[in-house]
Amino acid sequence: MLVRYITKNKIKIITKNISYLERLYFMCGIVGYVGKKNCLPLLINGLNKLEYRGYDSAGIAVFKDNDIKITKTVGRIRDLDDIIDYNDSSCIGIGHTRWATHGGAVTVNAHPHRQGDIVIVHNGIIENYLELKDILLENNYKFSSETDTEVACAYIDYLYKKNKDMISVLEQCTRDFIGSYAMAIMVCSDNDKIYVIKKDSPLVIGSCEGENYIASSTNAFSNDIDRYIILDDYDYGYIDEKDIAIYNNGILQTKEYVRFNSADDVCDKKGYKHYMLKEINEQGDIIKKLNDKYLNNLGELIDISRFNEIHIIGCGSAYHAGIIGKYLIEENNGINVSVYIASEYRYQKINYRDNTLVIAISQSGETADTIACLKKARSNGIYTLGIVNVKDSTISRIVDEVIYTEAGNEIAVATTKGYLTQVYILTLLSIKLIKDNTVFIEELKRVPSIIDNLINLDYNDLVKDIWKDKDIFYIGRNIDYASMLEGALKLKEISYIHAECYAAGELKHGTISLIEKNTCVVGLITKDNIATKTISNIKEVKARDAYVILIVKDSLGDIISSDCYDKLLLIDSVSDIIEPMISVIPLQLIAYNVALINNCDIDKPRNLAKSVTVE
Ligand code: G6P
Repeated sequence: MLVRYITKNKIKIITKNISYLERLYFMCGIVGYVGKKNCLPLLINGLNKLEYRGYDSAGIAVFKDNDIKITKTVGRIRDLDDIIDYNDSSCIGIGHTRWATHGGAVTVNAHPHRQGDIVIVHNGIIENYLELKDILLENNYKFSSETDTEVACAYIDYLYKKNKDMISVLEQCTRDFIGSYAMAIMVCSDNDKIYVIKKDSPLVIGSCEGENYIASSTNAFSNDIDRYIILDDYDYGYIDEKDIAIYNNGILQTKEYVRFNSADDVCDKKGYKHYMLKEINEQGDIIKKLNDKYLNNLGELIDISRFNEIHIIGCGSAYHAGIIGKYLIEENNGINVSVYIASEYRYQKINYRDNTLVIAISQSGETADTIACLKKARSNGIYTLGIVNVKDSTISRIVDEVIYTEAGNEIAVATTKGYLTQVYILTLLSIKLIKDNTVFIEELKRVPSIIDNLINLDYNDLVKDIWKDKDIFYIGRNIDYASMLEGALKLKEISYIHAECYAAGELKHGTISLIEKNTCVVGLITKDNIATKTISNIKEVKARDAYVILIVKDSLGDIISSDCYDKLLLIDSVSDIIEPMISVIPLQLIAYNVALINNCDIDKPRNLAKSVTVE
């Protein structure tokens, strides 16, 4: 029997110790509201705040005239907003943004889904949906979409028809659903509640006087919210206007509330044309803030020299930051560092040696592959460190130790300040181990103003001959190569121009066959001891009539002859260790300006999601 009792601020917590499963999916977004206000604008507002994560359809469901009314469409939230009837005022509703996984981006596959009495929105994938579908087909359920979610919806309805207690239905679902799920559920005959169930996809419940909200991320919360709780795996329950009741394995839980500080600035471009530009411009101030926090307190950071070996794992830009970290740590501290793409590491045979440290880098702290790698390392008894931006994210909660990058909310899908702060933390970890690091500390103090100056240069002019190109090559050696990997990714992500990054010395082993008259090659040269080597590689492409944009450390300017480049950008000279924090700025702005001229959807590039939670 379920005992239900609720105190105002606390629900008893008895957390079942369940290991994280292999996959996480939450590229979609969920919002829900129960209170006294008309939920329609609140739902749309919440969905707008989740828009940055990437999606291709959206929908809402509200109680109306003893029934549930669903409105959904492919396209943007503004398209949904256009078809919502705001006269349908209702105090309870749920909403969703969908990033297509099972079934194409068409309205019929969009959420909410309805089967019988049940309406749901769902983030995640029910992996055994075909087995469940067989049971449901035998019981005369019919399906209009290709989604696993509609099957889950029908399955809940099927159980509910047999047993009118939704709480025990959801308990049953935690046993029967295989995969990942964060769901908000409405039941026709139960018009004062929204039910929830969660495993492997984040779900939070926000509260203020007389109102409760559900969301897949606190970013979606209304500014009225002052506290929230984080649901754990296999939690299920409901919210109504006054109460929150969450169960796990049949037992009512007590959850501690986390204070919510209004997310006011989350959706404010502060006058910039794009979030990406705003976030690029924030970088100087963020580094200054981090300098204030760390430069006199390096002792607070983990001493990585106590480990014999380091594995760094990440995806996308976080992986690139990891490569920078490898160069920094190996050159200055002599520890062997291997950097792995998380989706490879998780299925790779890893021969862990004694005393290995695994560093997981992740802006969101929710990337499925990175989480899987951490679980693998932990199950081998390996110490884990997270370098994470989002507080209380999954990665920050499962690692032995976390360093927050404190970049603030990053809305643009293509990371800029998230990446830079990851590089910053790796730089600190590295210089902490250098005996006389005064010169580096002093240089770090100069970084904010160097960044600000670099941002103010004329990148429009720099890219005016290349924005129409179809292929652009990025080359560099050593740590410059690592920076160029990020530069090329930025361009691909937001301008859709094919960009390929090569270690400069490797180009001639095949890829140089692609260089012809006016093929653009962007070169980065900041390392004194190998500058001449990269210059030789630049000459090789110039000899094939490539169009060359060179980014060169100021102090090396004298050795660059004018026949090496078509455009030259000199950047401030700092030590090799600090330079990656400088050289990435023009790379971000080259990508931004090319995308701008091409009129691309810079903050929400096609096909991309901010938090990639599919394998
Ligand atoms: C996505 C984003 C990238 C990001 C990568 C890793 O692909 O579009 O910008 O670098 O995920 O994300 P994480 O949150 O783990 O840093």
